[in-house]
Amino acid sequence: MKTKCTWVLGLVTLTIGLPIASAADAAANWEEYCASCHGATGKADTKMGQKLKLKDYSDAKVQAALTDEALLKATLEGVTVDGKQKMKPYAEKLTAADAKALVGLIRSFKK
Ligand code: HEC
Repeated sequence: MKTKCTWVLGLVTLTIGLPIASAADAAANWEEYCASCHGATGKADTKMGQKLKLKDYSDAKVQAALTDEALLKATLEGVTVDGKQKMKPYAEKLTAADAKALVGLIRSFKK
């Protein structure tokens, strides 16, 4: 019990002490900004994901159809189809490095 407490405390300290926006934050950014729609593991297995008919990023075919540039652009600039914004841009919340790290994370969702 005591060791567990120390461990948790250490983890909390570590999390708070981390410098902002390192690549290791990709998972945290995903959780905070993206998972509500795209799902924790990119499968779009959320209410929003199903409503919006989002792609399943664990599907190799889906991954193959998307370029890194397209993923990066969508993340930073959002997605607009026929003049309608389907996903808002995240350029204000994320740095280019954050967005790149998220693209890496999306790639890692592939089965
Ligand atoms: C409010 C729900 C919502 C949130 C939150 C959201 N997205 Fe999206 N995302 C969408 C929609 C809708 C599309 C467009 C899907 C389409 O056109 O088929 C999309 C498309 C994308 C695409 C383009 C590839 C594709 O699947 O068509 C990428 C990459 C992407 N999102 C990444 C992200 C990242 C990274 C975040 C977090 C920073 C995020 N999204 C947050 C709804 C969301």
